[in-house]
Amino acid sequence: MFPVQHFGGYNGRAMTTAPFPACRLRRLRAQPWVRSLVREVRLAPQDLIWPVFVTDGPREAVPAMPGVERLPIPDLVEEAKRAQGLGIPAVALFPVVPPGLKDDAGSEALNPDNLICRAIRALAAAVPGLGLIADVALDPYTAHGHDGVLRGGVVVNDESVEVLARQALLLARAGAGAVAPSDMMDGRVAAMRAALEGAGLPDTLIISYAAKYASAFYGPFRAAIGSDAALKGDKRTYQIGPPNAGQALREVAQDVAEGADAVIVKPALPYLDIVSRVACAAQVPVFAYQVSGEYAMLRSGAVPWERALMESLTGIKRAGATAILTYAAPEAAALAKSG
Ligand code: PBG
Repeated sequence: MFPVQHFGGYNGRAMTTAPFPACRLRRLRAQPWVRSLVREVRLAPQDLIWPVFVTDGPREAVPAMPGVERLPIPDLVEEAKRAQGLGIPAVALFPVVPPGLKDDAGSEALNPDNLICRAIRALAAAVPGLGLIADVALDPYTAHGHDGVLRGGVVVNDESVEVLARQALLLARAGAGAVAPSDMMDGRVAAMRAALEGAGLPDTLIISYAAKYASAFYGPFRAAIGSDAALKGDKRTYQIGPPNAGQALREVAQDVAEGADAVIVKPALPYLDIVSRVACAAQVPVFAYQVSGEYAMLRSGAVPWERALMESLTGIKRAGATAILTYAAPEAAALAKSG
């Protein structure tokens, strides 16, 4: 149903071309003016979502992610205004929760005055029109670092879903325009949709991390929010195994059936085939998350940062994502504007 714009003018045509020398494909690349006219994908600031780390502590750099900072709420408001000025439509919010507030149940997630709810209220008041996407998962809040409730060493599904639906409701009430469940429990989207409808919040979007893989590329993020030291074991009993595409398609189908408005594929670069297949198969928009490890790799100095960033974002859009979450959103927006 979605315009398969990512296949450009070639979509549906037979794979055929005139033989050399009648066809010299280099003619389409020879001059800047023709390169511009044949370009299939153009990245715009309007395609980007900026994930940000919020803290109650001082503004500080995230060592594992050069150029990324943890922002106290007043600084976050200023930076969010700047991002909006660059044309970025939305931010995705992640809290840095001090160890003293973490417990086994993740109860701080349900505190209506927690850091993230205060950040949402401040942004909603000071930066009207900016999309506020609130992550739904317990890992910033749990002492064990898992996204759900742990019982006897197992992340239990249905009890987790109950807590996550309450968390989603709290975030929506604080003023989040979208909740983004990243926990990978079964049935969470249906529970959140029912909770939102029941509370008179029918317009809150659910942008679900439907295809979230158990990835090594989340390392710097876990360091940034301080859930790495806490994490006991791994997340392979709920996040999808990297070799599997079929489960991603089923997760997407189920989340859409349960009421998700858009879905996220995460990470992006090692999963571009998933982005492409979901974009072709799903009846909803597909976003892709260029995660912390991808960002850190691009920033490592091994490749020219600006060109490699724009190339990777263009590749993600070409694969079929209508929007991309990237920690480099402000930089990429400025680069996209300048051509
Ligand atoms: C967990 C969550 C994770 C990320 C976003 N939400 C990591 C995880 O599953 O441990 C990772 C994002 C990134 O690496 O940039 N709810």
